[in-house]
Amino acid sequence: MRRPGSQWARQARPLAALRHATQRHHPAYLDRPAAMAEHVAALADALRTPGRRLRILGDPARPRAFVLQAACPENWTGRPLLQASAEADPRDPDAVTWMARTAAMLSLARDPAYLLSLDIAHAASVPRLASVGLGVDSVTLVGQTAPALARLMGHRPPPDSLHHLGLQVDRLRPQDVDAALRLKQRVFAAAPQWAWFAAWPEHLAQTRGHWLDGCRDPHALLFVVRQGPRILGVFEASPQGDTGAWGPSAGIDLCLAPEVQGQGAIWTLYRILLTALARRGVRVFRGGTAQPGVLVAAERLGRHPTTLHVRPAPRLPIEHFMGFKMSGLGRAHARPVPG
Ligand SMILES: CC(C)(COP(=O)(O)OP(=O)(O)OC[C@H]1O[C@@H](n2cnc3c(N)ncnc32)[C@H](O)[C@@H]1OP(=O)(O)O)[C@@H](O)C(=O)NCCC(=O)NCCS
Repeated sequence: MRRPGSQWARQARPLAALRHATQRHHPAYLDRPAAMAEHVAALADALRTPGRRLRILGDPARPRAFVLQAACPENWTGRPLLQASAEADPRDPDAVTWMARTAAMLSLARDPAYLLSLDIAHAASVPRLASVGLGVDSVTLVGQTAPALARLMGHRPPPDSLHHLGLQVDRLRPQDVDAALRLKQRVFAAAPQWAWFAAWPEHLAQTRGHWLDGCRDPHALLFVVRQGPRILGVFEASPQGDTGAWGPSAGIDLCLAPEVQGQGAIWTLYRILLTALARRGVRVFRGGTAQPGVLVAAERLGRHPTTLHVRPAPRLPIEHFMGFKMSGLGRAHARPVPG
């Protein structure tokens, strides 16, 4: 008997193999069948989406490059999104050029929102994408928890509390949730370039539910920074389970009020979260960012860029990223893909 959806899995397998071949060069990537299975599942999901668009260069059984675009709800807000992914053999310059051109061409029908995820190996395609009004919004960074913690503690161990700044770190309680949400809304409404969706009502409603669940979970790594009764920060690590490509993983979110930014509190926040994640055997921590403080910290913690998130009408110029080694974008202008 045929398993439902297996035709999509079959079609996805050669595309997944190309993706796997590119990603296996990332330092923390687990080159194993479970990683391939994860790519197959994600690509099969996109392939079975009504109205999806797929372009392949070469033999579909052994593609040199592909671009796949499908409508799906956004993770962060639930709003409709045209999600594009593109892949090419990085050692095949003609395939990379075809991929950048095809992604640019397909993106012209973007409506209402568009996001292209591109492996950092294809950073040189960024100028080509810029010619159709696309630009880098953020970069996914992957860090290995235990080595990152060792680097953090080996360099200049940060304090394990924020008492030196007159601040206290506590677990988030249900009665703090509304103040913490107001803080998040205030911070990101004033600075949408660091996370354009983070002050949107849909995202805040989603966060509210997640935080209230976290308050009930004694294992949740969900904290606030307070000064007396005032909430001046909220930060968390959210375990994402054992992923095929990275093993046990977690996301990290940090948000400090402008009043307490710029004083190095980030190092203590990382110390608290990474210590807890390392104790639980969480192998990697992953997350997207454009934030200078996080990119600087990434270098110290030995995190690596894996994916570029490319959107229309970027809020940040490409030069913003080029100063940060960990953005992986220094090479984008060094040898741009021909238009
Ligand atoms: C991002 C955030 C957590 C950083 O925390 P912070 O404690 O304010 O971090 P700092 O500004 O002290 O910067 C951390 C390091 O980066 C360096 N840094 C910050 N901005 C920099 C820049 N533009 N260029 C070079 N270095 C920079 C700092 O010098 C510091 O290094 P040091 O301690 O060795 O001097 C905090 O600013 C914040 O919550 N911002 C708003 C919300 C947000 O953007 N969250 C992240 C979303 S991904």
